[in-house]
Amino acid sequence: MKALLVGGGGREHALAWKIAQSPLLSGLVVAPGNPGIARHGRCVPVRATAVDDLVALAAAERVDLVVVGPEAPLALGLGDRLRAAGLAVFGPGAAAARLESSKAFAKDLMARHGIPTARFRVFDAPAPARAFCRELGAPLVVKADGLAAGKGAIVCRSLEEADRAVALCLDERAFGEAGLRVVVEEFLVGEEASFFALSDGAAVLPLQAAQDHKTVCDDDQGPNTGGMGAYSPAPVMDEATTERVMAEIVRPTIAAMAKEGAPYSGLLFVGLMITRDGPRVIEFNCRFGDPECQAILPRLDQDLLPLLDAVARGRGLPASVRWRAASSVCVVMVSGGYPGTYETGRPIAGLDAAGALPEAEGVQVFHAGTALRDGLLVSAGGRVLGVQALGRDIREAVTRAYAAVGRIGFAGAHFRTDIGRRALARQESP
Ligand code: AMP
Ligand code: GLY
Repeated sequence: MKALLVGGGGREHALAWKIAQSPLLSGLVVAPGNPGIARHGRCVPVRATAVDDLVALAAAERVDLVVVGPEAPLALGLGDRLRAAGLAVFGPGAAAARLESSKAFAKDLMARHGIPTARFRVFDAPAPARAFCRELGAPLVVKADGLAAGKGAIVCRSLEEADRAVALCLDERAFGEAGLRVVVEEFLVGEEASFFALSDGAAVLPLQAAQDHKTVCDDDQGPNTGGMGAYSPAPVMDEATTERVMAEIVRPTIAAMAKEGAPYSGLLFVGLMITRDGPRVIEFNCRFGDPECQAILPRLDQDLLPLLDAVARGRGLPASVRWRAASSVCVVMVSGGYPGTYETGRPIAGLDAAGALPEAEGVQVFHAGTALRDGLLVSAGGRVLGVQALGRDIREAVTRAYAAVGRIGFAGAHFRTDIGRRALARQESP
């Protein structure tokens, strides 16, 4: 089977690494990829949002399957265009991708189908939005409706902050088109988890849960980022909670999408708050999480490619998959200054010529923002590397991941030192 993988970040490196292990694979093309991904497939310089060029590339390369990593091309309809050209695609079409690309759509769908989520209303004018903020009371959350690169959710501790958030979206247009509609919602209290499931539009296959670390500094301080690290499994998602999430959220969502004429095929990422009253949806995403994917895939104890292919062809799914009885941690190394302004082009020390860490058992270095300049590996983005390790338990995985991080360096590198802290606390004082 020949596959095209779309994307070039840490998530796509983990996907390429896992897909490349498949005995069914005859060739892997990646657009645009990165120097780490180049170890596993042939990278071609086509951007992940260049829909026309990607359709042409898939045809020219005569691939059997296209796997789409990021949300932006899915929201732009890449899945629909490829399917119209007769290709098998892993990733939803634009109508189903609205679960991520429109928070108002997702919230309304949940309301129509009784799927548990924070109380909310949708607004396109400031005055009624401000009035609803007063009805809810602080704290509350104001969210831009559309895609905003993870920055569109504003947690407001006071009504003054809420008014500012509403003005930022609706008056100052800080998120452009994406913020011209806002969701105002109740603040949920609990522990967050990211849960992943596969669906072919009808059948559902639960994968695993992970926990992300969104803020840039230790102890959940500082501004939000794309994700500074993740671990899996997530102790908060015990068997009973997982069963509730499947029964109350995942299966009803897949059924609702089918019933409403936009069957959901691909990876469903459910951002959850595990509250005292049970699991509640914070958001849906229509693709694997980054860096959750880098933590989860090394735990998968079987071939990923046939699963992606079965989803893409609507061929039905197995009831379960095999997971290693190991814990996994991924620590993200970022450029100093991220998520604000930062410098790139800094040489990365510690990795071998192929961008891997020599002699580090159970460790994978997934590239996100890296580039090759004159044969030298340099930083080329905010999130630069994801250093992932497996261990018998979370303690061993954390120790291994940080030992590996300590061997890698570039000027201005920053990483959180407390990835896995919550799971460690639970493991050590259950
Ligand atoms: P989102 O972009 O919707 O995933 O939101 C980003 C982050 O904001 C989440 O990971 C949560 O930490 C926080 N958040 C969003 N919605 C809520 C909510 N209703 N209650 C509490 N925290 C929230
Ligand atoms: N790590 C969160 C996300 O991928 O959206």
